[in-house]
Amino acid sequence: MPPTSANPFDQQQPIPGVKNIIAISSGKGGVGKSTVATNLAMVLSRSGKVGLLDADIYGPSLPRMMGTLGQKPEVSAQGKIQPILRYGMKLMSIGYLVEEGAAVVWRGPMLFKALDQFLRDVQWGDLDYLVIDLPPGTGDIQLTLSQRVPVRGAIVVTTPQNIALIDAKKAIDMWSRMSVPILGVIENMSYMLSPAGEKIQLFPKGELQSYLDAKKLVKLGEVPFHPSVSLSCEAGIPVVESHPQSKEAQAFVAIAEAIKAKLGPVLESISP
Ligand SMILES: Nc1ncnc2c1ncn2[C@@H]1O[C@H](COP(=O)(O)OP(=O)(O)OP(=O)(O)O)[C@@H](O)[C@H]1O
Ligand SMILES: [Mg+2]
Repeated sequence: MPPTSANPFDQQQPIPGVKNIIAISSGKGGVGKSTVATNLAMVLSRSGKVGLLDADIYGPSLPRMMGTLGQKPEVSAQGKIQPILRYGMKLMSIGYLVEEGAAVVWRGPMLFKALDQFLRDVQWGDLDYLVIDLPPGTGDIQLTLSQRVPVRGAIVVTTPQNIALIDAKKAIDMWSRMSVPILGVIENMSYMLSPAGEKIQLFPKGELQSYLDAKKLVKLGEVPFHPSVSLSCEAGIPVVESHPQSKEAQAFVAIAEAIKAKLGPVLESISP
C-alpha cells in the first residue's frame, strides 16, 4: 500500500502550462475583488497570456463583468471544458454553467469538486498568469485552492477604514499560515476626486499603512472611487478598456506593473 500523507499540501500539483497563479482575496465582502481581478487581468493580458477564474461559486460575477452573460462552455470529447474567450483572455466561472440568479446550494464536497474541475479540467493551455477571483473571507475555497495548486502570490483587497482592515488582517494571516506569499494589499475606493481635483475621503483613513509597515508588506496601489468603475462593471467592459485614460484605469495599470515587477521574469511552468 502506498504510504498515506498527513500533509494536505502534498496534494499540490501545478497546472501544466500555467506559470503564475495569482489569488485575489479579501476578508470583507464587496470591497472590489472582482473589479480588481477583471481589470488587473485585462492589463496583464496586454503583455502575456492570461486566464481568469471566478472561484466565487456562491456569488459568481465574472459573466456579467466581462460581458459574457449567457455563454456556455463547450466540453470536448475528452471531457475538457473549453474556457470562454473574451478580450483575448480565457475565462471560467460557475456562472457559465448555472443560470444567473439561481442559487448554488452545495455542501463543502461539491464546492471542492467544482473548484478542482475548474483547475484541472478546463483547457487553460499555456498561460503566463491565471488570476483567481476568490469569494470573501477565509474559508474552504481559499484553503482548498492553496492545498491543490502552488499559488505564486496572493493579493488582499481592502477599503481604507479600520472596520475593513480588521478583516484584511484575517486574510493576510490566512495566507501566511498557508505559506502563500503575499504580493501586497490594494486599497480600493481609496478616495474620490472632486471636479476641482481635490481628494475626498469616502471612508476615514484607518491604520492600514502602519499595519503594513509593521508586517513589512507593501501597498500595491490605491484605486480611487469613480462611478465609471461600477458603470463599466455593469456594462461588461472593465474600466481599463472603457476609460483607459482615467485615473482609475491608470491606477490598475500601475498596480499590474508592480505585480509584474514583484513576480519577476515569468517563470516557466513545472510540468508534472
Ligand atoms: N473603485 C471603485 N469605484 C466605484 N465603484 C467600485 C469600485 N470598486 C468596486 N466598485 C463597485 O463596488 C461593487 C462591489 O465590487 P465587487 O463586486 O468587485 O466587490 P467584491 O469584493 O468582488 O464583492 P464580493 O465580496 O461580493 O465578491 C460593484 O458594484 C463595483 O462596481
Ligand atoms: Mg466578487
